[in-house]
Amino acid sequence: MQDDLERILFHETTILRRLDEMAAQISSDYRKRELTVIAVLNGSIIFMADLLRRIPLPLKLDCLSVASYHGKTQTSGEVVFKQVALPDIVDRHVLLLDDILDSGHTLAAIRDKLETANPRSIRVCVLLSKKKTRSRSVNADYVGFEIADEFVVGYGLDFMERYRNLPCIGVLRKDLIAQSNG
Ligand code: IMP
Ligand code: MG
Repeated sequence: MQDDLERILFHETTILRRLDEMAAQISSDYRKRELTVIAVLNGSIIFMADLLRRIPLPLKLDCLSVASYHGKTQTSGEVVFKQVALPDIVDRHVLLLDDILDSGHTLAAIRDKLETANPRSIRVCVLLSKKKTRSRSVNADYVGFEIADEFVVGYGLDFMERYRNLPCIGVLRKDLIAQSNG
């Protein structure tokens, strides 16, 4: 799988070191608060597993599944919720976790939907944020790393459902993306 990368952006040790810092910040910010973490499947599962084990708070965990990509490297703009019921978050402080903030469509749509369920607060935490002008503005409260506007895989992030189990994060070779588009 590593051969399919143009270059590695973050090795596993670098990611885990950054997660220590993020977890410390989140643990301090949510001390004495009723925290519910909502993770967006499938991309955030590895990030979620490593981050949450570093947060020693009595939190609740729920997952949401949405689709917006349909196998391409560009967002379709349409966000489809795969489950009917939303988690019970009335009066809870919600921390929304996702792998990456790209166009902003996904997190903006989820955030809008969760607002309707009367949480006490909603904050957004992403491992990666692409430096670009977003179609929908989403303010990420916790960001692991800012990256250029390139297609990346690994550590939960996929290209056509592959590479999620790669322990590092890297830029996918352009020829591989081109092949599957054409
Ligand atoms: P957005 O709605 O455009 O912000 O896209 C968010 C979703 O698109 C993420 O949760 C990812 O699943 C996927 N995504 C966006 N950029 C990348 C990337 O560079 N690599 C892999 N998946 C990505
Ligand atoms: Mg994806």
